[in-house]
Formats: sequence, structure tokens, C-alpha cells
Amino acid sequence: MCGIVGILGNSSAVPRMMDSLKRLEYRGYDSAGVATVAGGSLDRRRAPGKLSALGDVLASNPLEGNSGIGHTRWATHGEPTINNAHPHMTERVAIVHNGIIENFKALKDELKAAGINFEGDTDTEVVARLMTRYLDDGLPPRAAFQETLGRLEGAFALCVLVAGEDNLMFGAREGSPLVIGLGDGENYLGSDAMALAGLSNQLIYMEEGDWVELTRDQYQIYSAANEPVDRTVSFSQVAATMIDKGNHRHFMQKEIYEQPTVVAQALGRYLDPIGGVVKLPDLSFNLAAVPKITLVACGTSFYAAQVARYWIEQIARVPVDVDIASEFRYRDPVYADGGLAIFISQSGETMDTLSALRHAKAAGQHIASIVNVTGSTMARESDLVMPIHAGPEVGVASTKAFTCQLAVLAAFTIKLASAKGEIDDTQVADYVAELEHAPALMAKILNADQQIETIAQDIAGARDILFVGRGIYYPIAMEGALKLKEISYIHAEGYAAGELKHGPIALIDENVPVIGIAPKGGLSEKTVSNLQEIMARKGKVVLFSDDEVPPADMYAHVAMPTAGDLISPILYALPVQLLAYYAAVEKGTDVDMPRNLAKSVTVE
Ligand code: G6P
Repeated sequence: MCGIVGILGNSSAVPRMMDSLKRLEYRGYDSAGVATVAGGSLDRRRAPGKLSALGDVLASNPLEGNSGIGHTRWATHGEPTINNAHPHMTERVAIVHNGIIENFKALKDELKAAGINFEGDTDTEVVARLMTRYLDDGLPPRAAFQETLGRLEGAFALCVLVAGEDNLMFGAREGSPLVIGLGDGENYLGSDAMALAGLSNQLIYMEEGDWVELTRDQYQIYSAANEPVDRTVSFSQVAATMIDKGNHRHFMQKEIYEQPTVVAQALGRYLDPIGGVVKLPDLSFNLAAVPKITLVACGTSFYAAQVARYWIEQIARVPVDVDIASEFRYRDPVYADGGLAIFISQSGETMDTLSALRHAKAAGQHIASIVNVTGSTMARESDLVMPIHAGPEVGVASTKAFTCQLAVLAAFTIKLASAKGEIDDTQVADYVAELEHAPALMAKILNADQQIETIAQDIAGARDILFVGRGIYYPIAMEGALKLKEISYIHAEGYAAGELKHGPIALIDENVPVIGIAPKGGLSEKTVSNLQEIMARKGKVVLFSDDEVPPADMYAHVAMPTAGDLISPILYALPVQLLAYYAAVEKGTDVDMPRNLAKSVTVE
């Protein structure tokens, strides 16, 4: 949420910052801005709306300087106007910020009482004016920054330039991620490895409470206690070329179609097809002794958790609690002694999920995380990290991360079931073989996308669409509804098919398409009966199923490959993603950057 970049370089900073902001735009796109310091003077350009609007401003009014800070905004305090856009600047400092300064009102009142005027409504401007005040009081830059940090409460990542100092930058991390990039006679700051992909592959992930003073040749990190500290330098594997649409029209399209490849990659890290076993990273606890599992996540990752509950309970026979992260700690959960809490997050930075992780950790649970970004805060705070190896996901609506999360959760389930003695070696090998087959079947589904595109075009005019499924396909129905509403803005809901008659069926008429997810066997007959009830009320039913003889009078039937319950949820994720994607394209919405959303939600 909000993207930050800072460059202390030896060539013009603006084009390099714009390049970096392009890769960060997924974090927020309500407004964008850059500031530089050149010959000691601070200057900035800002524009509401997408980064391209800032590009237009810079084209007609360029900005010089080799040192700069840049920002893409997802609005929290204050509308996405030019005045509220970052960088926030006084005659002495320019600041970009990600997060929320919770005590900003008290600080603002204090500064106003001292006669200081404000131009916008953001919490960030308070930081700029506060630091300016300390500089005006005669403090040198480092002390002024340190004093300012001491006054702030909340979650923030900050990047600061100081007037008169062409070779100086400050950064701070408290709750929101910030990464230092090391270059050759240059140094950088960024929200994540993606921000710095084109600049540096030597990264230092700052820890909670850390702050840093940077020049082109040096950096010094200080802890929350203001003690100088050393932090590990790690090597980033995110190359700028990985964050490219290639021949695709949208990142989301690229990410949907690369799923067979990335799921195969993910499975390759966890499965040994020859030995027929599952490999997990080394464990610091005994999996066989885990009495209960708690799964916590947000958004699409939450639906992956819901699918996993069915697997873990049915195959490993371990009780599972599944929670939406923002609700989790407030319900005062009852943990089991020695329980395992697993946090699922593409970014590894979602604030609600991270707070839930810390809650479970404080309660003595074993902590595992399933993340895409391996240098993320969640990964660093976990006992066991299971990376999903999906590669950078840029489209705001998650697709490949979802199927890779499922692949990893399926592998984990097999390992757990085997550790618990619920399945023998032959069954493990059978499950491994089934999972290995998933990428080929996924490719088959994606190759037959034409029919889904046509259906999507037909239903794109609907006002409401329902997705229904039962059992393990119920979370897939909810994920389908989420995908559709996120990017096409069509109102959609996912329901357990059997629940329709308890209310939602009142919505059905000839204008409401209903998408049924019902692979043959198991509960499919029941789901199909529920769909018959809809058709009897003129509902327009689209069925995704491998059943060769679907009920008559159906509006459309999309034939799916037949597969077992371990990989079917992964397969059925694809048609619902395609449906949402093509409906959004038909409606002409901004597929990769849907309104009001951001990919990495680092506020509560
Ligand atoms: C945002 C994104 C969703 C994502 C959710 C959780 O809402 O728009 O696509 O599923 O955050 O993100 P995480 O990084 O924790 O998986």
C-alpha cells in the first residue's frame, strides 16, 4: 500500500524513479509524485491519478537532480487530490510515507498552535512540518529526524530528503516495509524488492523500528533504541525483466496464463516424483504432534485457506480453524497447546495478517507462513516458511499466487497426513502423482478459453451474478465472485449451493446469471439439483463440470477435465479467473489497477 522509492545516484533521478514507480504502481494509484534535491534546493512534481499523469506533468515541467524520492499513493487520510499527493514538502524537507501516523491529529494541533500552517489533510504532512520545526530549532538533520521519529505513533515507512544536502537521505521502518538497496557509489531505498529491481540486487531488509542515514557511499542503520546496528545483506532474485507484461495485454492475463508453469515450479520445490514423497523445509517442531491448525489470511489468500481446511481435515484428520485476518485477534481465539498457525499471504506484508501472526506467536503457537515474497516480514517472523515460487505478481487481483498457494497447501497436507499416520507411503506416492499432473491439466483448460471468453462477453452486462459450489468448491465459488467484483465491478456473491434456498434464491430471475462449480462425484448431484431450482425460476445457469451429461436447459456448460479432489480446486480456479478477466475486458475497466484497490494492504 503506497509505493516508495529513494535514489542517491550519479545520474538524473527522475527517469530512474519513474521506472521504479511503474513497478510499484500496483501498491496504489490514487496519485503519484517525485521530489529531488539539486544544488541544495528541493523541488517536486505531483499529480492526482495514475503515474502516467505525473509523466505528463514532468514532460512539460522537468525536474533536475541526481537525488530524489518518489511515491505512488493509496489514499488513507485525505482525498486523492494534488495537495494530498506525496512528496510532502516544506522549504527544508521532502517526505514520502507509506502507512498511517495514528497520532497525527494531536501533532497537527500542537503544530497549528505554534502558528504552523498546513496545505493538505494528510497525516504525512505532519511529519514534514514536525521535522522542519526541529531543523528550525537548530538541530542538525540526523537529530531532527531522530526527534521526529520519537514523536510518531502508528505504522509507517518514511523516506526523507533535506534541503542543502544533495548527498543525504533518511529512511525509517515501523510496521510498513522498507528495503535498502546498495549500489556502486549509489544507494537506494524502496518499499520492496520490486521497487529496486532495476537498481540493485543487494538488499537489506530493515527491521521493525530501524532507521537509516544514507549517503552515496555509506549507510548507517540504527535500531529503535537509536543504537547503530548491522543488518544482513541479501541477494534479490527479482529482476526487472520479470516484471514485464511480455506480449500480453494485461499483467493479469499474463499471470493467468503462466499458471501451469509457475504451479509446476512450485510443485517442483515440494515434491519428489521419483521417490513419491513430499519435501518440506526443515522443521523446528514435530509435525506429528500438532493437535490443531489455525489458518489465517485476507482476500484471495483467505479462500486458499478455506480450500486447505477441507484437505487438512479430510486427508490429515487434524482439526482446522480458518479466520479472516482482520477478525482473528479480536475474537480472542482459543489456541491449542503446541498448535500450528499458518499465515497465507502473497505479499507477506498484509498488516492484518501480520498482526494475527504476531498474536499467535505471542500465544506460543508454532508459526508457519506461505508467502510469495520470501524477504517479507511474515517470512522473517515465522518458524517455517513455505514459499510459493509464483514469481512477481503485479495484477492487483491475485491469480497465480492463489493456485501456487493451493499447490503448496496440498503438498503440506500430504506431508502432515503422512506424519500423522493417516496415509501410508503408497497413498503419499499416489497423491504426489496426482499433484504432478495438475500443470498439464491447467494448460488444457487455458487452451480452451474461447468458450469462457464468449460467456463472459454475454454476462458482462448483468448487474448481479451468483457463484455457487459445495464442499471444497464453495471457496472456489467465493473466489470467483471476488475476482469478478474486483475487476469488472459487477456485484457478485459466492454461496454454498445448498444455502441458496435460504434467501439468495429470491434474487433469481432471467437477468441473474448463476455460475455453478460442480465436478462429477461427491456432492455434484446435490449442487446440480440446486442449479435445477434456479433454472426453474428462469435463472441463467453456467456450469463448470466434467459431467458429460449436464442437465438440459442450461445456458452454458464448460467441459472440464476429470481429476481428483486434491487438484480439482486448483483446476476450477482457472475458469472463474478467466470469466472475471474477460468480463472486465468487455466492460473496459482497468484490469490491472481496479478502482479503490491496492495489492499490498499495509494498513489495518
Ligand atoms: C489485497 C489484494 C488481494 C489479496 C489480498 C491479500 O486485497 O487486492 O488480491 O488477496 O490483499 O493479500 P496478501 O498479499 O496477504 O495475499
